[in-house]
Amino acid sequence: MFFYFSVFLYVLALAYFIKLIVDFIRCKGKEPPFITSLGKIKKEILETAKKFLRENNGIKVTDLGCGSGSLLIPLAKEFKESKFVGYEYDWIAYTIAKVKTFYIPNIVIYKKNFFDVDLSEYRLVLCYITPGISDRLGDKLNRELTKDSLIISEIFEIPKLKAVEEITSSIAFKKLKIFLYIPNK
Ligand SMILES: C[S@@+](CC[C@H](N)C(=O)[O-])C[C@H]1O[C@@H](n2cnc3c(N)ncnc32)[C@H](O)[C@@H]1O
Repeated sequence: MFFYFSVFLYVLALAYFIKLIVDFIRCKGKEPPFITSLGKIKKEILETAKKFLRENNGIKVTDLGCGSGSLLIPLAKEFKESKFVGYEYDWIAYTIAKVKTFYIPNIVIYKKNFFDVDLSEYRLVLCYITPGISDRLGDKLNRELTKDSLIISEIFEIPKLKAVEEITSSIAFKKLKIFLYIPNK
């Protein structure tokens, strides 16, 4: 039984790895794949978001490309007066996030491309995107967000926004950064 279960897990992991490669080739490496936020960097992103939410509770928060919802879930559980919205276009990540958030009333997950959504109602924006789309996202955030919004970007810089802080963090022993921005208005 254990053997069959291990083989099943192995096949699942292999299929997922192949999907990642196919997706990477399809978008020519421009778009971020579904890799979940984890480790110290995840903890520090959550701390930064919580600090903002403590000062601005009751706001709308979004994770652009929310993956499995691993950032939105702990925030929504702690800040019940705020509303959390995840946009995810990958059906595997979307399904995982949908199942995981089924019982949490203040989270909604949409299977949508975040470039097709009006972001003007959000005060806190989380994202983990790659340089291939960061220019376009920077323009969109500048256009749609209000001056009092905060953008927390995991690992990658977003050009055109106004930088307010850089936090040095890590995953395992690899040094990485968290970038904090406000719209450049
Ligand atoms: C690096 S992952 C983020 C993971 C997430 N923070 C988590 O912990 O699970 C980036 C995600 O963004 C999604 N994504 C990339 N571009 C997108 C777009 N334009 N619209 C919606 N989702 C997008 C990808 O499918 C991927 O799941």
